[in-house]
Amino acid sequence: MPNTVLIGAQWGDEGKGKIIDVLTDEADIVVRMQGGNNAGHTVLVGKKKYVLHLIPSGILRPRKKCIIGNGVVMDPVHLVEELDGLAKLNINVKGRLFISENAHLVLPYHRALDELREVSKGKGKIGTTKRGIGPTYEDKVSRVGIRLGDLLDNDRFSSLLRKRIQSNNRILRENGAKSISYKKVLEDYLIAGERLRDFVANTFIMLHEAMTQKKRLLFEGAQGTFLDLDHGTYPYVTSSSTTSGGACTGAGIPPNRIDRVVGVMKAYTTRVGGGPFPTEDEEMGSMFHEMGREFGATTGRARRCGWLDMVMIRHACMVNGFDDISVTILDGLDNMETIKVCVAYRLNGKTIHHLPSSAIDLESCEPVYETFKGWQCSTEKCKSWSSLPLRARQYVKAISTMAGTKISSVSVGPDRNQTIRLM
Ligand code: GDP
Ligand code: IMO
Ligand code: MG
Repeated sequence: MPNTVLIGAQWGDEGKGKIIDVLTDEADIVVRMQGGNNAGHTVLVGKKKYVLHLIPSGILRPRKKCIIGNGVVMDPVHLVEELDGLAKLNINVKGRLFISENAHLVLPYHRALDELREVSKGKGKIGTTKRGIGPTYEDKVSRVGIRLGDLLDNDRFSSLLRKRIQSNNRILRENGAKSISYKKVLEDYLIAGERLRDFVANTFIMLHEAMTQKKRLLFEGAQGTFLDLDHGTYPYVTSSSTTSGGACTGAGIPPNRIDRVVGVMKAYTTRVGGGPFPTEDEEMGSMFHEMGREFGATTGRARRCGWLDMVMIRHACMVNGFDDISVTILDGLDNMETIKVCVAYRLNGKTIHHLPSSAIDLESCEPVYETFKGWQCSTEKCKSWSSLPLRARQYVKAISTMAGTKISSVSVGPDRNQTIRLM
């Protein structure tokens, strides 16, 4: 497998964790390059379910190396908890996990500010994961962030932290929120820093050496195309570059060393949090929620659900340059009598075939649907393309035609083995 970037084609939770796990079999190193523990990537191996937030999903395959790149924002206390969780499940990460010293730290004041801003927005809130992601990236852009490398130097960290806590406590107090204890944060973070010391590395050099040795790199995108800070449904987005270009800056890889970009899309659409969602269908949401499906892997919130939106998928193909697409949760549509697919929008009396630039216009878009007959039988046990029901194959073929992109796999269940590889 050449150097591959895997990106969510919708609003996150497309099943990236599962597909990364499948592709890791053919990779040497798996790299996270953006986002933080707002991500929740689920991998089911046999009866065991793993949910990874910061650690790349490749860690579940023995002997594979994993890297948390410079573009990730990380809470070291959370990361230690995630490592402890893996240790309890007998996953040994020693000598396999490396974290960039340039990754920015999420601190308790970032979480407090995230909460405060959401409350102050009232009804117009973004619906963030409240993991402090936005405020951490703001500090990075404002050039006042604290990085993992700083945490490993006690004196430097104490002095940087003191200044940042002073100025953030002022904002918190002014807004009626509780201030943060410098002493407590210092203590917790220094303990976590010691636990992480052996994992900290110059991951940029590691990746370039690996490329010289022709190792196969797999980049694990977090969130999805329409949560991208530039290309998403702004302001209802996350604060990082979730599209394929983010792999270059978030890991230090030049664009010409990326050989393949894979998009992952659900056979329908979901979104967590606020913002426009033209094909949202509350009935579909209720049906999935009653089945115990479509609850967020990070916050447990019920995901909003709707029909597949091919206007968005086509846009995602353009912005990411998908070479091929992995279609997931096809089995989610098994019971549907008819399946709707949005092929265009009606906006201000006109039919448009592209995504409007503004979220306000997208809010006013009415979907134009094409209807497909459902296959109404279980696909969960299908192991090959030919074993899929004819109507399911027609549906997947239609997605490929409308996207103008090959389909590399179809997923019919959460387990590794429920994956039909077409490439
Ligand atoms: P990610 O954030 O993109 O990694 O996706 P999440 O893990 O947040 O959400 C995807 C959910 O769908 C998880 O519960 C997966 O176990 C599950 N999943 C992935 N692929 C399939 C599939 O093909 N069928 C079914 N039924 N579930 C799937
Ligand atoms: P994975 O990697 C789905 C959403 C939040 C909110 C917006 C901003 O599991 O696909 P943030 O906390 O990032 O500032 O929230 O982005 N969001 C996700 N939605 N999957 C994710 O990650 C998400 N990460 C953030 O719900 O709408
Ligand atoms: Mg998720």
